[in-house]
Amino acid sequence: MKIAILGASGLVGRTMLSQLEQCCWMSSPPLLLTSERSAGIKLNFRDEELVCHAVNENSFNGIEIALFSAGGSVSKKYAPIAVEAGAVVIDNSSAFRMDSNIPLVVPEINPTLTTGIIANPNCSTIQIAMALQPLHKEFGLLEAHITTLQAVSGAGKEAQQELKNKTVTQLDVLPKIGDPLPNGSFTEEEKVVNELRKIMSLPTLGITCLATRVPVWNGHSASIRAIFSTEVDREKAIQALALFPGVEVAKSEHEFKTATEITGKGEVAVGRLRLDPTNNKGLLLWVVADNLLKGAALNAVQIAGQIAEARS
Ligand SMILES: NC(=O)c1ccc[n+]([C@@H]2O[C@H](COP(=O)([O-])OP(=O)(O)OC[C@H]3O[C@@H](n4cnc5c(N)ncnc54)[C@H](OP(=O)(O)O)[C@@H]3O)[C@@H](O)[C@H]2O)c1
Repeated sequence: MKIAILGASGLVGRTMLSQLEQCCWMSSPPLLLTSERSAGIKLNFRDEELVCHAVNENSFNGIEIALFSAGGSVSKKYAPIAVEAGAVVIDNSSAFRMDSNIPLVVPEINPTLTTGIIANPNCSTIQIAMALQPLHKEFGLLEAHITTLQAVSGAGKEAQQELKNKTVTQLDVLPKIGDPLPNGSFTEEEKVVNELRKIMSLPTLGITCLATRVPVWNGHSASIRAIFSTEVDREKAIQALALFPGVEVAKSEHEFKTATEITGKGEVAVGRLRLDPTNNKGLLLWVVADNLLKGAALNAVQIAGQIAEARS
């Protein structure tokens, strides 16, 4: 199985490369593609150094799976070229996520073996979907009201550099991620709403989202109030979450993981799980995950792994 990573020098691309180190289904080391800026830089892969190449229209010849993480405009230009060359493209940008012909995939929820383009969801959406799906299966989800607290790594390597350059007195919380929309939201909030409905096949799900950027190096957090169609039972909720692959759940209402604690781990951690005192069909929960792992690179590599295994 021949793999390429477009955006290999970025935060997500480098994390993809380290995830691929553990995958035995690759026939040769991945081809690393970047812009002209990073062409020539070397990245470690297992016990060798791989050189990054500037992407061009012939880069995907012979590639079977192409992992894209170079932003939406680059995906729009190169994904059709890669598909034409015979590759399956797993795209981390938002370019194709809401296209009705393109699957938006969290492998534990809606796996696919399709060809063409597969969209990897927004980082916050993945961890929220992972926490809500087992609860939905148990109690029937009607509404989710979400506040995200998103680390600077979610905005790429330049945002991490910007945080490094700030003094403690300049650190702040911003209730704004993405571009403003006429309905009063920012685009990140709309992504969570629309993508969650698509992944969970709940097109009329009632969702509100406030997305905030916080001065955290890595790892996204989300506070969720979820309302179901049936009365909830805390023990059953814990059991459903504990049995769901890729999710870990704290048993006590007071237990939780932080973004820093989950960094470097592939799981989605649910904590502070409480009954809603105002509604016997409601649950309150705190969800953290490493946005570069399950929120991006790991999810994409899991999709690639399922395709590779099906073809072998
Ligand atoms: N960070 C996250 O947590 C996260 C989570 C989910 C999805 N995503 C999405 O994943 C993508 C990458 O995010 P990131 O955080 O890794 O960003 P990043 O750290 O800024 O890296 C961007 C990568 O894209 C490459 N690139 C930029 N312009 C290019 C061009 N014109 N042609 C070829 N390569 C180009 C860069 O190469 P150079 O080094 O040559 O500039 C670099 O490898 C974005 O679409 C982002 O929305 C990110």
